[in-house]
Amino acid sequence: MTMKKKKITIALDGFSSTGKSTMAKWLAGQVGYAYVDTGAMYRAVALFCIENQLIDNGVVDEQALQERLADIRITFRPNKEGRSDTYLNGRNVEREIRGMEVSAVVSTVAAIGFVRRDMVRQQQAMGRNKGIVMDGRDIGTVVFPDAEMKVFVTASAEVRAQRRYDELRAKGDTTTTLEEVLQNVTERDRLDTTREESPLRQAPDAVVLDNSHMTIDEQNQWLLNLYKEKTSNR
Ligand code: DC
Repeated sequence: MTMKKKKITIALDGFSSTGKSTMAKWLAGQVGYAYVDTGAMYRAVALFCIENQLIDNGVVDEQALQERLADIRITFRPNKEGRSDTYLNGRNVEREIRGMEVSAVVSTVAAIGFVRRDMVRQQQAMGRNKGIVMDGRDIGTVVFPDAEMKVFVTASAEVRAQRRYDELRAKGDTTTTLEEVLQNVTERDRLDTTREESPLRQAPDAVVLDNSHMTIDEQNQWLLNLYKEKTSNR
């Protein structure tokens, strides 16, 4: 008799532009799990701040943001290609949240305690029934400390900047330089690892994946093998 496997929770954390999202999405598709990009949620809050003049010269008006937090509704809906797009109050913001304007301020917004608590609460609700792949910075440490499978993804800053630069070019950005992208990546690493509120940290039970010199195919296989190992006795 074949028994239906019990679903697990999969947490992927790590530095920015490591290709976490691509891997996480792929794995979710392979194993039929839901996928949640938590970075997109913080990016949507950052966009809300920009659009509502709640951020001035990189400084967030925290009181005003706290008062308006309940007005921010973030949802995910599949697009025609089957990928999930981020919606802010019913508007598709997938493209806008990936631009440099949002990237420049998102780490500051993501460092605010009440923002994190609100996002974490929503993320925990999304993963209540397991069968989820979630990627971010604090998934294995704060959101789902009991996740059965935890991966900590890393790659050199130069490799990550080049990937992000190629991505921006492919999306039609012809002005941002590689140097600027590298600066943004390094600065975000610093902010993400040194902030007081749930800094980016490897969970003690996470498996490290350095994909600096791996192809997408190699990392996908590595991830799928780990998933098989984690679910073999279930
Ligand atoms: O993964 P990303 O680059 O799209 O994330 C955008 C920012 O959001 C990044 O600077 C760190 C922050 N973030 C976070 O603090 N916690 C998460 N779970 C996900 C992202």
